[in-house]
Amino acid sequence: MRQGEHFLEIDVADNDSVTTAAREFSNIEDHLDVLVNNAGIIVDGDSAILEISDDLFRNTLETNTLGALRVTRAFVPLLSKSKSPTGGLMVGRRLYCISKTALNGVTSQLATALPKFAVNSVCPGWVRTEMGGENASRSVEEGADTIVWLASDAPQNVTGKFLRDRKEIPW
Ligand SMILES: NC(=O)c1ccc[n+]([C@@H]2O[C@H](COP(=O)([O-])OP(=O)(O)OC[C@H]3O[C@@H](n4cnc5c(N)ncnc54)[C@H](OP(=O)(O)O)[C@@H]3O)[C@@H](O)[C@H]2O)c1
Repeated sequence: MRQGEHFLEIDVADNDSVTTAAREFSNIEDHLDVLVNNAGIIVDGDSAILEISDDLFRNTLETNTLGALRVTRAFVPLLSKSKSPTGGLMVGRRLYCISKTALNGVTSQLATALPKFAVNSVCPGWVRTEMGGENASRSVEEGADTIVWLASDAPQNVTGKFLRDRKEIPW
């Protein structure tokens, strides 16, 4: 770990974990420049839409959709203290698709509620991670490109969008 780097464990599906992490972060740093909501899951059994149980549905939205909202909620006070013009961004089978479509809705609402921030969702493409598997077409660096661009060089008026390869796409 380099000097000035800190790692905080967060379970985005647990609100206490999220608020504790935000409190711990505020003891270390007085502001946050960029928030990347990267956590996401695909649960076993996410195949036939009519066979998905209520519990599976809730678990997936708890992490993929509500998780991003509650982390943003907890860290907005720290983002608000950032001197950077860009305050934050968001990334991101059947149930999985529903949760990510709902996440785009959350992103759109957050962008309206937080006009001083850039709030966006990102499709990284098919990426060689644990989720994507070794046959995926993109490296982690390629998958992260739009996220890093949004966090650094993108125009500040890009907000409330769903992007892939630095361009807005429909959802
Ligand atoms: N890979 C792809 O092809 C692809 C395509 C489109 C979108 N995405 C999205 O990109 C993001 C990153 O995916 P990935 O490919 O890196 O997936 P991954 O290899 O499965 O990693 C998922 C990450 O999410 C974390 N996570 C899961 N549940 C969490 C929770 N409740 N609280 C905190 N962290 C949690 C995991 O942490 P632990 O390891 O500690 O559990 C892990 O770091 C996800 O939102 C995914 O939906 C990926």
